[in-house]
Amino acid sequence: MEIDFKHSPVMLNEVLSGLNINPDGIYIDCTLGGGGHSEKILEKLNPNGMLIGLDKDQDAIDFTTKKLSTYKNFKSFHTDFKNVDEVFDVLQIDKVDGVLIDLGVSSYQLDTASRGFSFRFSGPLDMRMDKSQNLTAYDVVNTYSYEQLVKIFFEYGEEEFSKSIAKNIVKQREISPIKTTLELSKIIEDVIPKKFVFNRGGADKKVFQAIRIEVNDELDKLYETIIYLAKKLKSGGRIAILTFHSLEDRIVKNAFKELCTDCICPPKTPICICGHKAIGKLVNKKPIIAGAQEQEQNSRSTCAKLRILERI
Ligand SMILES: C[S@@+](CC[C@H](N)C(=O)[O-])C[C@H]1O[C@@H](n2cnc3c(N)ncnc32)[C@H](O)[C@@H]1O
Repeated sequence: MEIDFKHSPVMLNEVLSGLNINPDGIYIDCTLGGGGHSEKILEKLNPNGMLIGLDKDQDAIDFTTKKLSTYKNFKSFHTDFKNVDEVFDVLQIDKVDGVLIDLGVSSYQLDTASRGFSFRFSGPLDMRMDKSQNLTAYDVVNTYSYEQLVKIFFEYGEEEFSKSIAKNIVKQREISPIKTTLELSKIIEDVIPKKFVFNRGGADKKVFQAIRIEVNDELDKLYETIIYLAKKLKSGGRIAILTFHSLEDRIVKNAFKELCTDCICPPKTPICICGHKAIGKLVNKKPIIAGAQEQEQNSRSTCAKLRILERI
């Protein structure tokens, strides 16, 4: 079946100018998605340059590999970007000129009901970016203990009603397993006081985000992967990272801080014993946000933050 992959690349111009593309350079798009950013990067490259695209979603790889098939200098890999070191090995590449990470889910994933990411459509509780993995949202909702559910809703969703939502899930699943996105949605909505529903971008948003992060292990090794990729940049090369919620952004901010700081000894250490040396500098002191027009046209861009680091 032909995939109808709809996704508008967020802050496209800001990402492209932030990467300061070298036409002969090697670039990695760690989150290929529908290839919106990748296509524009490829347009700026000479045949000598190369773009490597990774995605853990086979649908994204299939769609975008076909879409970009006229570019002979494009290679794609179905893998989690936490395994990007394997891609360096396979291609026998040592250093690259730029890296893009556009975190989270694509509009295609969110809007395809059968993928089970959204509380707006009825679908199976799935939420796997990589459909070959075992853990699904169904497993989280139906097998995690009350304490585990509270923890993920609180930590990954920053949900203030974590306990009452987890309690209602446990109560409902004792009657029968919770199978669909809309069943879960109702269980959440039933316990959130009406006066708090307004202004939350949908009562279910935080819990769905939390379950999605858990299912896809989204924060695991993100920090380490950013440090690894920054070390793989050539001098003057850049890494641009788009985040969509505070947990991701905090990890990027802290990783960039480590990369831009000479000494990372604990604050009260009298003399430096770590020997750490900065290898990067921030291109923008503050994260870049989408312009008013983009925010109006693409709701996904309203919470996006773009941070860019340059290798020194
Ligand atoms: C926001 S979309 C990227 C959209 C893309 N920049 C574009 O313009 O079309 C994020 C994509 O990254 C993928 N993804 C998220 N986390 C990943 C990870 N750890 N490893 C590989 N792919 C990941 C998702 O499957 C999704 O297709």
